[in-house]
Amino acid sequence: MSIWFSIGFLFSFWLSFSFSFFDSAATAQKPRAVIDAVSRFYAEDNANVHRGVPALAERATAQLEAARAKVQRFIGAARPEEIVFVGGVTEAVNLVAQTFGRSRLRAGDEIVVTALEHHSNLVPWQLLCRERGAALRVGDIDERGELRFDELARLLGSRTRLLAAAHVSNALGTINPVAQMVELAHARGVPVLIDGAQAAPHLPLDVQALGCDFYAFSAHKMYGPMGIGILYGRAALLEEMPPWQSGGEMVSAVSFEEASWQRPPHKFEAGTPDVAGAIGLGAAVEWLQSLDSDAAAAHEQELLGYGLELLRAIPACGCWAARASASA
Ligand SMILES: Cc1ncc(COP(=O)(O)O)c(C=O)c1O
Repeated sequence: MSIWFSIGFLFSFWLSFSFSFFDSAATAQKPRAVIDAVSRFYAEDNANVHRGVPALAERATAQLEAARAKVQRFIGAARPEEIVFVGGVTEAVNLVAQTFGRSRLRAGDEIVVTALEHHSNLVPWQLLCRERGAALRVGDIDERGELRFDELARLLGSRTRLLAAAHVSNALGTINPVAQMVELAHARGVPVLIDGAQAAPHLPLDVQALGCDFYAFSAHKMYGPMGIGILYGRAALLEEMPPWQSGGEMVSAVSFEEASWQRPPHKFEAGTPDVAGAIGLGAAVEWLQSLDSDAAAAHEQELLGYGLELLRAIPACGCWAARASASA
């Protein structure tokens, strides 16, 4: 037995007994139910969807669409057609920027984001604004890490074409008052996109109650597979938006001269989708729903309180925006 094998063995032995993983905001570990759902698809049901060997393809298609319906119920969307499978939040924001944004933004217009955004809900808007000669405005936060609401109200004006904001900040754990933000924006005729990457694993979601126009999350942060996520879009907006990527699956008729599109969500799902990923996402949704959410939230609060207590005991350590109520 080589020394490296021995070290590797000892390390994995140590890992299995004493490893605590506190990096779920980057990506969560996967429960057995998710791993099994993905393997079962590849072992027993693998086929391309909407075409291919009939019996298998029908099973694969049915599972893909069942996963869509699970996500629809999980976030309280009105219809499964409002759920578009994408690679994750990054792809979802780029999709909205390149379709909705590009078709609506003119020189002199504005997009509003907040100082709490992850790069994936900032850079696509920077690029779009640069391309269109539009301006990006940034809503500031206070010393507690919370949005300055009065400033946000001031930023949302007649030139604003979209408010794009995080539900929960990945950096500070701030939980934004999304329903109020949407109310404020809609009162000025401004549509709203919410980045739910850090909210989906922790908070109960109801996109209809929030009133937002778009909502996105990544499966891998909520115990699902990497490389899959969803974009929720209100049906009327998805209908009116032009397609983004094009090719197979998203077309209804094609000639050498022209093509016509499927209706949403398939209009936005060009090429072979990540069927196994979607099925794994459906399993993650079911697994999350099987948990006692109150107990999970209480446990998170306990861990947060404990972590803050330890950090505050370190003289050189300052805690910014650390609120006992932050839960993500
Ligand atoms: C708030 C927030 N938005 C977006 C993302 C990007 O997610 P993904 O890399 O899965 O597209 C992250 C990832 O850390 C995040 O925390």
